[in-house]
Parts: sequence; C-alpha cells; structure tokens
Amino acid sequence: MTPDVTAFFDKATNTISFVVKDPEGASCAIIDSVLDFDYSSGRTDTKSADDIIAHVQKHDLKVEWILESHVHADHLSAAPYLQEKVGGKIGIGKNITLVQDTFGKVFNEGTEFQRDGSQFDKLFEEGDSFMIGQLRGDVLHTPGHTPACMTYVIGDAAFVGDTLFMPDFGTARCDFPGGSSETLYQSIQKILALPDETRIFVGHDYKAPGRDEYAWETTVGEQKANNVHIGDGADQESFVQMRDSRDATLAMPKLIIPSLQVNMRAGQMPEPDEEGDVFLKVPVNKL
Ligand SMILES: [Fe+2]
Repeated sequence: MTPDVTAFFDKATNTISFVVKDPEGASCAIIDSVLDFDYSSGRTDTKSADDIIAHVQKHDLKVEWILESHVHADHLSAAPYLQEKVGGKIGIGKNITLVQDTFGKVFNEGTEFQRDGSQFDKLFEEGDSFMIGQLRGDVLHTPGHTPACMTYVIGDAAFVGDTLFMPDFGTARCDFPGGSSETLYQSIQKILALPDETRIFVGHDYKAPGRDEYAWETTVGEQKANNVHIGDGADQESFVQMRDSRDATLAMPKLIIPSLQVNMRAGQMPEPDEEGDVFLKVPVNKL
C-alpha cells in the first residue's frame, strides 16, 4: 500500500513532521510533531502544531496515532496538545525507559517522575505492527542515535527519524548519552535491507553543499548507492571512525535542555508548583 504523506517543515529546528494517511480511508498518523519554543523568553507557541491540526480538519482525517521516532533533543513534541485537539494514541519505542532513567538522573527528577514509559499510550518493540485504518505499520528498533529510536515502516514508506538523513547529508549523530555509532551502523543496515523502492522520509534536513532546497524524501536504493556516510558499501569500521570524529566537533542542539525534560514526559511539561507555575531546569556542567 502507498500511503499519502504530507510533510511539515519547521525552519526553527529543521524538523520534518509527517501526516501519513490511509489511501483508502480517512485514518492517519502524525509523526514527530513540534511544539514551538522560544528559549530566550521561555514561551511556547502552537503555530507548527496548529498547521497540522488545520490539515487534519480540512481533510476530515481521523488521527489514530501520534508517533515519536525517539526522544528528540532539538525540539519539543506537541503530542499532548495534538492529542487534546484531534485525538490519537501517543506511541514511542519501549527503550524510552532507558532514556527516562538516564535523563531522570541528569535532571535530578524526584520519584514523581515515572521511568516506566507510562506517560505514553503505547510502547513499541521490534516486530510490532499497528494499523492506520486499512494501512499497516511495522516497527523496527533502530537505536544508535538514541537507545529508543524506532523506524516506522508504513506501507511502502519508512519514517526513519534520526538515523539516515538525505543521501547528500549522511547520518545522525551518536554522541548523546546512550548513543553508539556501532549500533547506528547496524540499525542502518536493517533499514537498507528493505526493498530498494521503499520510500524513506527523514526526520531532519539541513540542506547540503550544492543543494539550496530542503528535502526529506528519498529511497532505500538511493541511500545504498549515494549516502555520503554509509553508501556504496561503507564498512562499519570506517563509518564509526568518521562518525565519532565528526560528533566530537558538534555543539549541543540549542533546545536540548528543555526538549529532553519535556519529551521524556511524552511532551508534557513538568508538574506545576503550588502556585501553578511551570519551571524547567538547567543542569550545570552535566551535558
Ligand atoms: Fe534526534
């Protein structure tokens, strides 16, 4: 089956959110939504999420799923806001519990922060499948960028999150806590084992030398042939060496501190204080 895929590009964080629709019905899933956040003022905004809601309402879609490819470190998820407005079950990979454990410690969260993934409606494992109307989704566990990264293969389309990027940009970084370039290499082999004509939709795009337009759609065949990090049969050892040395030069994403605290809670803010005010923490010299 060939789902209808609509992409929403967020310029502030270079994130692509997707609405994936059953071609024979009104059911859809929303993948990797964005809650706008201005760090300087500490203010959230729902413009990006409202664009998705407008699309859902305009086409009378029924949202079955709100999926996260992983706990994002560069943008906040709008999953709870979307769920409240248009419904759908919020799903993520089962290893979210490892991520919650790691960052529960980094942010010195108290016992009220559950580390069992219970903030989400569904925890997916490798081999799970789910339905979007008549359209079937299959789940691949593709860790490396983070331990909980999942690829959702929906009909002929694979939503790979932060594993592979466009062929001319390469692959995702592996230097966050719990990341591993060896593991990412193996996960990418799993994605590249899908049929060559499988459409691949990437979670971020930053353009690339010689390309002035943002892009997010490619295929398994194109990745195998042309990916600058992993194409043309690149072996694990040279990939790991390239990835690790490149990661050592990368700055932390601008929104990593608010993003992790919110996204490990399935997009919810921390509990308000007695006055009803909400605060995010900045751990000093921890990341
Ligand atoms: Fe990411």
